[in-house]
Amino acid sequence: MTHKKQDYINTLREKIHYHNQRYYQQDEPEIPDAEYDRLFRELQALESEYPELLSDDSPTLRVGAAPLKAFEQVQHKIPMLSLANAFTEEDLYAFEKRIRDRLKEDKIIEYVAEPKLDGLAVSVIYEKGILTTAATRGDGQTGENITQNVRTISSLPLKLSGLFPDVLEIRGEVFMSTNGFNNMNAKAIKNDEKVFANPRNAAAGSLRQLDSSITAKRPLDIYCYSVGICEGYDLPLSHYETLMCLKKWGLPVCSEVKVVEQAKGCWDYYQYIGDKRNSLPYEIDGVVYKVNLLSDQERLGKVSRAP
Ligand code: IVH
Repeated sequence: MTHKKQDYINTLREKIHYHNQRYYQQDEPEIPDAEYDRLFRELQALESEYPELLSDDSPTLRVGAAPLKAFEQVQHKIPMLSLANAFTEEDLYAFEKRIRDRLKEDKIIEYVAEPKLDGLAVSVIYEKGILTTAATRGDGQTGENITQNVRTISSLPLKLSGLFPDVLEIRGEVFMSTNGFNNMNAKAIKNDEKVFANPRNAAAGSLRQLDSSITAKRPLDIYCYSVGICEGYDLPLSHYETLMCLKKWGLPVCSEVKVVEQAKGCWDYYQYIGDKRNSLPYEIDGVVYKVNLLSDQERLGKVSRAP
């Protein structure tokens, strides 16, 4: 009896997982929302009837879990560092000169240019493809365990697709889109509830809820921007290709990420994003440049708390 139920529950989960991918990764839903809701509610009903058949990759974890008393601490195996700043075009050329001097090689240096999303840094660990732990950055060494909350972010898969590492830690930025923020505040005003000052505060407040069913109702989003731990998989040689791997596994990566060449390419990208800034669906507080070749990143090492 339970075997049959287990099979049925697995099929339902697979179906919901498939439709989540169609909706969030491919932007091509195949069934109406009402039909999706019906499948989801059926799974919820079965899981509450057979709690022993609950699992770590069930799509129902998206609606939140029992409230916590406090967040537990999580040690980051690889510290979560910070970034160095450049404020002028001269700073940018000086940055490239430092890189050139340290690499002692006369070649065209490729960078990956990315929007600097205005949200909160998180670390998310997948073991055997299943999202098992998520943590805040904290002081860079120790963060808070916010797994229940991060599981409610609809665009982040609870389960990776394809051939993935045994253990994968991604780092990314949790944020709230401008639209999501405005709608949420409009509702809050109507219901005489707390209004947030800006999307970043709203994202921070939502992510640090002890009751993840509240987080589940907030329009949070995430873009992944790097890899921490990776076991049982040979990652590509460049940062850009690594991001494309993340995409292939179903993880959301910002579509404005571009490969550029030399300081000039970085500057042009800065102008490009500046022109587009007001029409981007999220808030940014700058752009980030990363040396594309991982072997060069390795050789460059880190200065103080920034790579
Ligand atoms: S890379 C070694 N990429 O900026 C640091 N960070 O001080 C690796 N941020 O709080 C960070 N967008 O969360 C990186 N595309 C991006 C980012 C980004 C926003 C945040 C990050 C951190 C701060 C870095």
